[in-house]
Amino acid sequence: MRIPLSDPVVSATAAATDLPRALPHGNRLLYDRFGRVARDLRVSLTDRCNLRCTYCMPEEGLTWLAKESTLNDDEIQRLLRIAITRLGIRQVRFTGGEPLLRKSLAQIIRTTKELMTDENVPPRIAMTTNGVGLANHAASLAKAGLDRVNISLDTIDPQRYHQLTRRDRLHHVIDAIDASVQAGLTPVKINAVIMPGLNEQDIVPLAEFCLQREVQLRFIEQMPLGPHEAWDRSTMISARDIIQRLSESFVLSPAVEKRGSAPAALWDVHHRDRDLAGKIGIIASVSQSFCADCDRTRLTADGAVRNCLFTRSETSLRDILRDGGSDEDIMLAWATAMWHKKPGHGIDDPHFLQPQRPMSAIGG
Ligand code: GTP
Ligand code: 5AD
Ligand code: SF4
Repeated sequence: MRIPLSDPVVSATAAATDLPRALPHGNRLLYDRFGRVARDLRVSLTDRCNLRCTYCMPEEGLTWLAKESTLNDDEIQRLLRIAITRLGIRQVRFTGGEPLLRKSLAQIIRTTKELMTDENVPPRIAMTTNGVGLANHAASLAKAGLDRVNISLDTIDPQRYHQLTRRDRLHHVIDAIDASVQAGLTPVKINAVIMPGLNEQDIVPLAEFCLQREVQLRFIEQMPLGPHEAWDRSTMISARDIIQRLSESFVLSPAVEKRGSAPAALWDVHHRDRDLAGKIGIIASVSQSFCADCDRTRLTADGAVRNCLFTRSETSLRDILRDGGSDEDIMLAWATAMWHKKPGHGIDDPHFLQPQRPMSAIGG
């Protein structure tokens, strides 16, 4: 039974010994104290990136993880096997930094797709990418077993794209979107973080661009994850502001689709003046948080489990692996880390502190 997040009986100091018992064959589900089960694993394959989005990283001076501290392919594959075949993970999303920078990406996808979940089917595999370099690889990644992609695109204005990403790659991203549709990596979703004074004017053009291409645009409220000066609650563009801006050109109504654990709430939109219609998502992580339905667990490129995007405490599975730990040791450590997941991200808490890791090293 699902326990309401506000249930006062649930002790905030539950100990690891309160973990739900193991399933037959020693398998486990990644439960937390509030009844949520992680079924969706986000794996950061590298903290490096070929863009320098202003809201994500400083232009220079960010230190990358040392190569020897990051998981090698065998280590990633072992953790993926444990997660999928023994811990109930059903969907894997590869992220970065920029996941396309990992040379073995296709091989990792291929071996992941050979695994079987607890539903006796291969896991669903998605990737979140900035799209640079994807056009040439979309078909081969689809062949390797990638099911779908989410591509970041915050403006379709070339100058603003350059200003936001500090690189001149807009045409690569547009080619990547077309190649992804062509390769069947659908639904192709486009992520646009909306920031005050930077790309508010792009809301309607982005919507028109994506509806024309029949890809699913999601507008994202900026979260306090990048450089400290890049986020200010008092000026943040909220879901409400985005809907208001969209309403000037579109008629909007909430879509009937159930949201489940997805961050995006979908809207049906119809252009007021043109023959353009479809669905647009809004990810309101700050103003309407969806933590109560969260089904995510995260693995960083250096092998740490993060039970929440915003957590400030991590559990290193890499150290257990490299100390010769058994699969059971890893499962117990992973399950314990998830058991202590907090009910929410706590952005509204006056004592909220950003995670120590930069966004590029968490993977969104
Ligand atoms: P879909 O399954 O395709 O809907 O993917 P997604 O939206 O979960 O993943 P994506 O990587 O495209 O992320 C879109 C936005 O949602 C980014 O801003 C992420 O940082 C944010 N996001 C993803 N997962 C979480 C989460 O668990 N919590 C919060 N607060 N934001 C998240
Ligand atoms: N707030 C919300 N989303 C962000 N992303 C990067 N930084 C932030 C932030 N501060 C998005 C990227 C990418 C996804 C992984 O996270 O645009 O699409
Ligand atoms: Fe931009 Fe994503 Fe790279 Fe961050 S990780 S700099 S958001 S493309």
